Amino acid sequence: MNDAIAQSAPLTIESAMRSHAIALSFSKNDKDEFVMEGPSELVSKIEKLFEVNLLDEVTFFSPTGKAGELFEIPVSATDSETDRIFLVGLGDKSLSSIRHAGAAVGRKVRGKSIQVFSACNDGVDELHAFVVSLTLGSYLWNQKTDKDVKSPLFLVATNDQETLDDAVVIAKSICTARDLVHTPANIKNPAWLADQAVQLGKEFGFDVKVLAGKELAQFGGLRAVGNSSPKPGPRFVELSYLPRNSKKNVNALEHVVLVGKGITFDTGGVSLKRPYDTMIAMKSDMAGAAAILAMVCAIAQLQPKVRVSALLMLAENALSGTSQRPSDVITHFGGTTVEVINTDAEGRLVLADGLAYADANLDPDYLVDIATLTGAATLGLGRQYAAMYTRDNKLAKKLEAIGEESGDKVWHMPLIDDYQDSLESDIADFNHTADKGKYSAGSVTAALFLEKFVGERRWVHLDIAGTARSEVDAGENPKGGTGFGVRLLTDWIMSL
Ligand code: BES
Ligand code: ZN
Ligand code: ZN
Repeated sequence: MNDAIAQSAPLTIESAMRSHAIALSFSKNDKDEFVMEGPSELVSKIEKLFEVNLLDEVTFFSPTGKAGELFEIPVSATDSETDRIFLVGLGDKSLSSIRHAGAAVGRKVRGKSIQVFSACNDGVDELHAFVVSLTLGSYLWNQKTDKDVKSPLFLVATNDQETLDDAVVIAKSICTARDLVHTPANIKNPAWLADQAVQLGKEFGFDVKVLAGKELAQFGGLRAVGNSSPKPGPRFVELSYLPRNSKKNVNALEHVVLVGKGITFDTGGVSLKRPYDTMIAMKSDMAGAAAILAMVCAIAQLQPKVRVSALLMLAENALSGTSQRPSDVITHFGGTTVEVINTDAEGRLVLADGLAYADANLDPDYLVDIATLTGAATLGLGRQYAAMYTRDNKLAKKLEAIGEESGDKVWHMPLIDDYQDSLESDIADFNHTADKGKYSAGSVTAALFLEKFVGERRWVHLDIAGTARSEVDAGENPKGGTGFGVRLLTDWIMSL
């Protein structure tokens, strides 16, 4: 629902003075003095036009120097549309600080029909981070009927059109993921979400295959969970991206396969979630599927020379007469049997089918799953870092670095083999809750369970239960869905 747009603009006073607001930045130099950032010639012209000394204005507010601190100064000049200047703190000028600054400007004008000219950035990575965070900070989603939602227009002073265009692609894709997460579950059932994938496939040019009903015969985990809500029931969606004009040499391309947890609402099923309040956030239990769907939209526009498949495991985990029962035994794709213990651990059941399908049918070079899987991931790492599991330490290092740079941060967690016996079952190949032995490492044992379905593949599991949703408006994140994973996975695929 975010229609905020960023466009490039010439770095001129004429372009600045036609906007309602001008955003400029400041920082502290080595001598601990505040200094204005950005193109000094333009800053001087702006000061002259509006008859202000911007540094005096900054020091008047006694800033702390933290990134994202924002002061608003009313200004006026004949023939100028501008009535305010935003002065935003750039902190230590790291990418993370620049994201805070961009988000602060975006948040300031959220929901307003206002044109903001900005000249805050230097360097390709900095420009990218700034443009993305402007858009993310101004993101708004609601279904209020009492007023029109308005959107700001950001004019970013740069002649690096390519960097700006790429940043807009990423920002819009993150907003797509956020929109899907925010949509309530009475609208967003698995069929609706599959249809969104079909529409986005048409819009951006990637293939979409949807399986339903009898076609899901082999997907025992997806059916066991999703038939708790038989109308419309579960869906399996396979998105396929190939770079343009590459049909002939498909096999020469590396193949990345991603699997996303797409539980459109998680009541816990018969093992109903308690306390009941914890259920309210559970329309966001499809954030993994939303992230990879939005990421494929970005990839289809950026056209990397990689083959990408994304599998959306879509189901509702409802409480009904057709819900699965604790003690049921189900057969996953590929034949592995699993004893269901706690029906609230449904995510791993739908992912297991997707991972086994990918291993059996898609010959992935990389197999990645992303899921709001365990409350334990939030307990361990909070809301800033996702829990990442992989046995490939080199790949882990790379993803950690891309995470820091992009803002979607991940922490490499251990796959602890001493806890393998938690998966034992007396009557099936595994018990799915992985609670034999009482290791109390819910995010780790869930990862060990998933690993049983990846064969010999190079595999990464991202537990985004903590990062997919924000409880408050903070920095780039709105209260609600954050779109976590879109940047991390897009940037990683672009780097292959
Ligand atoms: N969707 C939840 C995990 C979750 C919790 C995501 C909080 C976001 C915020 C998942 O399906 C779940 O219920 N997991 C259980 C597993 C347990 C029963 C083994 C959990 O983490 O408590
Ligand atoms: Zn659950
Ligand atoms: Zn869940």
